[in-house]
Amino acid sequence: MDNFMFYSPTCFVFGKDAENQAGALVRRFGGTRVLIHYGGGSAVRSGLIDRVQASLKAEGLPCFLLGGVKPNPRSGLVYEGINLCRKEKIDFILAVGGGSSIDSAKAIAAGTVYDGDFWDFYSGKRIEEALPVGTVLTIAAAGSEGSPDSVITREDGMFKRGASGDAIRPKFSILNPALTQTLPAFQTAAGITDIMAHLYERYLTNTKEVEVTDRLIEALLLTMIHEGPRVIANPDNYEARANIMWAGMMAHNNSCGVGRSQDWNSHNIEHELSALYDCAHGAGLAVTLPAVFAYVMKHDVMRFAQVAVRVWGCQMDFANPEATAREGIKKLQQFFISIGMPRNFAELGAKEEDIPALVKSLCWGDGRQGSISGFVTLNEDDCAKIYQLMV
Ligand code: NZQ
Ligand code: ZN
Repeated sequence: MDNFMFYSPTCFVFGKDAENQAGALVRRFGGTRVLIHYGGGSAVRSGLIDRVQASLKAEGLPCFLLGGVKPNPRSGLVYEGINLCRKEKIDFILAVGGGSSIDSAKAIAAGTVYDGDFWDFYSGKRIEEALPVGTVLTIAAAGSEGSPDSVITREDGMFKRGASGDAIRPKFSILNPALTQTLPAFQTAAGITDIMAHLYERYLTNTKEVEVTDRLIEALLLTMIHEGPRVIANPDNYEARANIMWAGMMAHNNSCGVGRSQDWNSHNIEHELSALYDCAHGAGLAVTLPAVFAYVMKHDVMRFAQVAVRVWGCQMDFANPEATAREGIKKLQQFFISIGMPRNFAELGAKEEDIPALVKSLCWGDGRQGSISGFVTLNEDDCAKIYQLMV
């Protein structure tokens, strides 16, 4: 196991009606003037924004509203949020929504207290300082409610890039599984896929002897395989939604990733798809993961065979471990398809003729030097072959 430092101070408040504690939590973490930042309207329609506002009002906290965050959130609204926070002297940002609203809130939080262009953080500069952020989560997926990360798309060039820093870990996150019951089935399934991808990206490691985190990841994958179909069959199943919501947080706050190298090539390859086609991140991952895994499997066949046996119930073929590894990848893809995710470029809405542009942006865009690295290093040729496997 590698050396590590793990700092994860987010306060999680989990369960029914937990959003009514938003005002008390903002006050506890020092907020006095609050920006409520949310998405395209689901939280308004469900009455959630009204309940959150009432909770802030009960604590006597002035609040300002900025909605309109799109899935795959854009830089334009971040600049607008930064201007608003400076003008109104806002000192706390409360994101209400999914990963997109939370990531946009994190970008505004970092940008407001920074003299330069906030995009510097998305081009490699670490975030050291930010306004405090809290979240009310409405979809189990990105894990941004417990992560030090934010992903934003720069409209000039359509680069989708990530930024990181413990300063943007939420001070608190409110997780009420009942809030996810209004999700369309497709978004629920895309969230399940994203959570599983976060687990796989950590499972693909070059660090030896990491049994404790291997076993944590396997337990969470087994939970997703059990609960995913139950919630697709019955969207009102509170208990299944509760298990998925907590699994989604644990999959990405890095408790399963400490002390080991991680992959993240699949995420980078997918981000080009959601940047170009504006598809759901989870749907892009459903197509990406099986292709990447098939391509890189030979780097460490036993790792893929291990997850196939321990998670997917495959029989270990000692004479031909590659066959076991392949079977596990096939079962993963069949699972994604069974919950309603796309299987290829056509079903995702992607086009074969765009592969050169995808590869160029992936390997060279915004300061990259011709390759991406993680579990293995992939050059332009590798990436083109991987996208081709998705056709
Ligand atoms: O905008 P509204 O109207 O709220 O609709 C959203 C949106 O259309 C809808 N939705 C959310 N909660 C709902 C609901 N509809 C009905 N009822 C509810 N309770 O669902 C749609 C998707 O929302 P979004 O916030 O985009 O979903 P998600 O949480 O999957 O976030 C995706 C973004 O997170 C990034 C992705 O790249 C993508 O941009 N990621 C962020 C990470 C991080 N910060 O740590 C890590 C992830 O790997 C990921 O890259
Ligand atoms: Zn993800």
